[in-house]
Amino acid sequence: MRVSVIGCGYLGAVHAAAMASLGHEVVGIDVDERKVAALREGRAPFYEPSLPELLTEAGAGGHLTFSTDIADAHGADVHFVCVGTPQMTGEFRADLSYVDASVGSLAPYLRPGDVVAGKSTVPVGTAERLAEQLAPTGAVLVWNPEFLREGFAVQDTLHPDRLVYGLPTDDDGEPTAEGRKARDVLDEVYATPLGEGTPLVVTDYATAQLVKVAANSFLATKISFINAMAELCEATGADVTRLADAIGYDARIGRRFLNAGLGFGGGCLPKDIRAFMARAGELGVSDALGFLREVDSVNMRRRVRVVDLAREVCDGSIVGRRVAVLGAAFKPDSDDVRDSPALSVAAQMQLQGAHVTVTDPQAIENARAKWPDLHFATTAVEAAQGADVVLLATEWQEYRELDPDALASAVAHKRILDGRNVLDPARWRAAGWTYRALGRP
Ligand code: UGA
Repeated sequence: MRVSVIGCGYLGAVHAAAMASLGHEVVGIDVDERKVAALREGRAPFYEPSLPELLTEAGAGGHLTFSTDIADAHGADVHFVCVGTPQMTGEFRADLSYVDASVGSLAPYLRPGDVVAGKSTVPVGTAERLAEQLAPTGAVLVWNPEFLREGFAVQDTLHPDRLVYGLPTDDDGEPTAEGRKARDVLDEVYATPLGEGTPLVVTDYATAQLVKVAANSFLATKISFINAMAELCEATGADVTRLADAIGYDARIGRRFLNAGLGFGGGCLPKDIRAFMARAGELGVSDALGFLREVDSVNMRRRVRVVDLAREVCDGSIVGRRVAVLGAAFKPDSDDVRDSPALSVAAQMQLQGAHVTVTDPQAIENARAKWPDLHFATTAVEAAQGADVVLLATEWQEYRELDPDALASAVAHKRILDGRNVLDPARWRAAGWTYRALGRP
């Protein structure tokens, strides 16, 4: 199939490379010239494991090209819309300007029967509006949400847990003839994963759009649930990691996404739950999502709590204290610092008078661009030089494996805050450290 991918960010670049590796003829389009130049050279414009290999492989075969000119999308059978939908400044709503701009600029190049597949996370109702806008072109819109996780994006795209197609439907809720044809086209695009037995859920537009935000809201709720339990554990001396293990053995609950700590961040979960609340309000059903407000508050409280913990271990004040923050990315195996809990806590402590040095295996450049006033170091030991307290904020493997004795020679005071509950408290305490964590005695 000939495929175009509009928007080559964390989602689109991976999708383009993955589609080419499945044997399709792909053109990736982005307005950012630097990004396109990097991708053309087979370089990933951000850190994502396995993406460079996939880009090189697909690029070498000549099946993957990149362009800044939307006219190059002309002739593709399927056009995937993969642009961002960030939170509007000062509002909960999603900013749809990139979606609108990309669909608007694509329209003149569409042929009747082309399939436009929306992948961006949008408020329910957007697909219906875009379908109307595209009607004069004769192209068919399908909503095909994406569930990839950063850090596992290549694996998640090539071997997804499920595929969802939201098709245009008639008055009886059945796919229209055009919708059925579009489904056949997508089946061909995804022939490999479908052949591997990936479940396919075919729905109407509204359901497909809701599936995505419902999934992210559920994940956010799971994380905030365990973080709320962490607050209870802190009040009672209980251990939230053991609690999570114990409830997680119940298959109905499951242990995944029950890791208490600094909470969720990134370019998706926080803004998606807020946009979902905003949309529910517009639809007159805000009560249905009232709990997400609480999910958001529990999550944000964790960041405040860790600053309080730092103050506590530093005998009541962090003013003038040296703090080493291990991790800047919102999660390991990513260089993404969008709404990163690690960076937000680092910045808070710096604003409150501490001297904060941040390190991260991949995200220093992005972190520096966002918070130039922080200090940066390339390794954990370097960041910890003279530190009064060390905070593990993003659980990169190399921080999980840190040797308490090796770090001890760098710091001024052996105090460690485990913001992700990944260190062995007994080992750190045995090495003479004051160990504190979120939701653990
Ligand atoms: C999330 C979803 O997991 C993907 O399915 C979805 O496709 C994606 O958003 C999106 O909408 O594009 P992602 O933002 O890459 O993926 O990151 P997650 O792995 O979901 O982690 C989100 C945050 O939750 C991170 O800050 C992580 O540290 C935190 N987290 C995760 C916890 O605090 N505890 C956990 O147990 C798990």
